[in-house]
Amino acid sequence: MILSMLLGYVASGLMVGTQAVPSPVNSHASGHEPAGHEWQKPGPFDSRAPCPGLNSLANHGWLPRHGKNITYDDIKYAAYHGYNYTEDVYEIFYILATQVFTNISTTGNASTFNLEDLARHNTIEQDGSLSRNDIYFGDNLHFSAPVWEPVAEDLGLKGYAANDSYVTIETAAKAYLARQEAAQAANPAFTVSFTQRNGTRGTTALYLATLWDYGAKAAPKAWVDTFFTEERIPYLEGYTTPKHKNTDFIHELFVAIEELVGFD
Ligand SMILES: *[C@@H]1O[C@H](CO)[C@@H](O)[C@H](O)[C@H]1NC(C)=O
Ligand SMILES: *[C@@H]1O[C@H](CO)[C@@H](O)[C@H](O)[C@H]1NC(C)=O
Ligand SMILES: *[C@@H]1O[C@H](CO)[C@@H](O)[C@H](O)[C@H]1NC(C)=O
Ligand SMILES: *[C@@H]1O[C@H](CO)[C@@H](O)[C@H](O)[C@H]1NC(C)=O
Ligand SMILES: *[C@@H]1O[C@H](CO)[C@@H](O)[C@H](O)[C@H]1NC(C)=O
Ligand SMILES: *[C@@H]1O[C@H](CO)[C@@H](O)[C@H](O)[C@H]1NC(C)=O
Repeated sequence: MILSMLLGYVASGLMVGTQAVPSPVNSHASGHEPAGHEWQKPGPFDSRAPCPGLNSLANHGWLPRHGKNITYDDIKYAAYHGYNYTEDVYEIFYILATQVFTNISTTGNASTFNLEDLARHNTIEQDGSLSRNDIYFGDNLHFSAPVWEPVAEDLGLKGYAANDSYVTIETAAKAYLARQEAAQAANPAFTVSFTQRNGTRGTTALYLATLWDYGAKAAPKAWVDTFFTEERIPYLEGYTTPKHKNTDFIHELFVAIEELVGFD
């Protein structure tokens, strides 16, 4: 079930309330980056994915900073230390990258992949990404400010009030829908299959899960902004490795989003 939900995209038990109750849970405090895992911009020969979550792990050296020849152990180490995902979650990424899409790897070893291998269109990468343009426009790998800006606006990341500093599930669902509509309107070759639609919804569930503030039942706007625009884990904005998160948790968020955006 979770595998089918995540099929078609790159890249996360508690009750998920759909009404966020913002609480001052240290979300905006200034924090410290873990020693040896400070954020660094990737170098010109480093490999990066179309996925801010994996890129952030590489930019902090939780994944090898070069982003190449990524192994199962690399993913396991990074997803645990960076995001505290349980093994059932990162197993999926590895299976997707090395077994389901057997031919995306360009390393010469089918058990490993380079982060940029994940940009192969319609295997893992697909149209309607929140922060990447569609392949039709030439580049589906790098962050696109023109794609992201309207999404950021819909998420309310610009000039928000102190009492409105969280991205709720409702807001994230609306932003997801608006981006799908914009991508479809702009791209004459836009295609998202039924399975892939679960994938794009899955990416929304995944970034929320990754940046989830358990106290507020929502994701701090400051964290979401940093994560997408800088591909940086928002330690400086108060992120600390949360208690562990498993596929059930991501699935709960996924279902909550699906209920809001419809099943068509
Ligand atoms: C990745 O693996 C290839 C093939 O084994 C090797 O030539 C290359 O040096 C490796 N790159 C890194 C960064 O480890
Ligand atoms: C492998 O790549 C080919 C050509 O790009 C594609 O047609 C095929 O579906 C891919 N196979 C898998 C398992 O992804
Ligand atoms: C391929 O990569 C895996 C994982 O790092 C490694 O265990 C294996 O020895 C490699 N195979 C070859 C032929 O290099
Ligand atoms: C935030 O505070 C302002 C001014 O007190 C109020 O008008 C607004 O409704 C509040 N917004 C939220 C989301 O609570
Ligand atoms: C989409 O996700 C739902 C909920 O997890 C699942 O029931 C359905 O089978 C998935 N559809 C596809 C095509 O994977
Ligand atoms: C992950 O969460 C568990 C509790 O859910 C905690 O014991 C552990 O220290 C956390 N790991 C990291 C790396 O923060």
